[in-house]
Amino acid sequence: MSLKGKRIMLCVSGGIAVFKAAALTSKLYQEGAEVKVLMTDSASQFVTPLTFQTLSRNDVYTDTFEEKDPSSVAHIDLADWADLVLIAPATANMIGKLSNGIADDMMSTTLLATQAPIFVAPAMNVHMYEHPAVLRNMAVLKEFGCHFLEPGEGLLACGYVGKGRMAEPEDILSTLQTYFNEDTRDLKGKHVMITAGPTREPVDPVRYFTNYSSGKMGFALAEQASLRGAEVTLIAGPVQLTTPAGVNRIDVLTADEMYHAAMEVSVQADIIIKAAAVADYRPITVSKEKVKKSDDSIAIEMERTKDILSSLGEKKDNQVLIGFAAESEKVEEYAWKKLQKKNLDLVCANNITSEGAGFDKDTNIMTLIRKDGEQIHLPLQSKHDVANKILDEAIRLDGDFR
Ligand code: CTP
Repeated sequence: MSLKGKRIMLCVSGGIAVFKAAALTSKLYQEGAEVKVLMTDSASQFVTPLTFQTLSRNDVYTDTFEEKDPSSVAHIDLADWADLVLIAPATANMIGKLSNGIADDMMSTTLLATQAPIFVAPAMNVHMYEHPAVLRNMAVLKEFGCHFLEPGEGLLACGYVGKGRMAEPEDILSTLQTYFNEDTRDLKGKHVMITAGPTREPVDPVRYFTNYSSGKMGFALAEQASLRGAEVTLIAGPVQLTTPAGVNRIDVLTADEMYHAAMEVSVQADIIIKAAAVADYRPITVSKEKVKKSDDSIAIEMERTKDILSSLGEKKDNQVLIGFAAESEKVEEYAWKKLQKKNLDLVCANNITSEGAGFDKDTNIMTLIRKDGEQIHLPLQSKHDVANKILDEAIRLDGDFR
């Protein structure tokens, strides 16, 4: 019972994902947590408070003015009681209220009053999730130190396909377990440098070469490394992802900018994970003016960019160096060659043609190949889980150097 005795205030705001919050309540209870549930009126339209009361074995709070115990003020009492606050599902409305300091019902009032760490699991329609107001509000909450449990992609209840599905209860549970468990803060005292996303190589002021990398794998690594106690520096190419809580982010555009940032940060890093899909070539000349079309075909001469990972491999002493190999054939063979050529300790290989693996997915299928030749096959699983397996290996390798 990894959450034994932990006091979790579960804030359930109104969306169809409320049904998942019910499953989550049950899992939290089974793991030994004491759970008190707060619901908004709209959440109660989806699932009744009685469900949560039964699953949590505790009263459910919905109304600021319904004081169950005359000797205390419920919203302050609850706010002080919690070791951790989890908003799941977090609607656009509740995210908007908290980021703007609005306290007009039991939940939003308690959220403002608490000093416990807050975890937010958004769930909403994809267009709502991508609305600039919602993105801004989430960024504000991150600045306030809230942790986010990224929603997944897929078919949404509204019929749209896209991002907005609440994180799965199993993933939320494992994030909380990691957060609470001192034993899983196994990266404490370590500085982890991670690169993520694509790079962008300009042709002229309006055009560039890039690739399909979304940055999700690198961001999942940064989030989990931070939760496991590491000091994390994330060097990110241009991606549409929010910075995980506690992570120091450096934004770059080109392979050259990534090279300079990586070289500077790497000096202090114990573990380096190069998940970025760095462009191998860039146009030799970048036109200052927009290139005008003509009826002729066009050839753009390209030159090699610096191989950041190779440069890190050349100067490494007792750092753990981990690279990625995204391949479409002979995956293990090509990945092994990369490990040897770039002086890596571990290479994370995946076949980008497999269903559920590769760019812009929430899942991955990977083979981790260690420098002693041992292979660890990871079947289809969330990038969150893959990230933790890679970090497990990083810790094992780091131990070899000590
Ligand atoms: N990498 C890097 N700098 C580059 C290119 C790649 O650091 N200029 C890193 C990536 O971050 C990744 C690994 O190297 O960890 C990928 O190896 P690479 O040989 O570049 O893979 P591909 O670009 O896919 O190369 P190839 O076309 O040879 O398969």
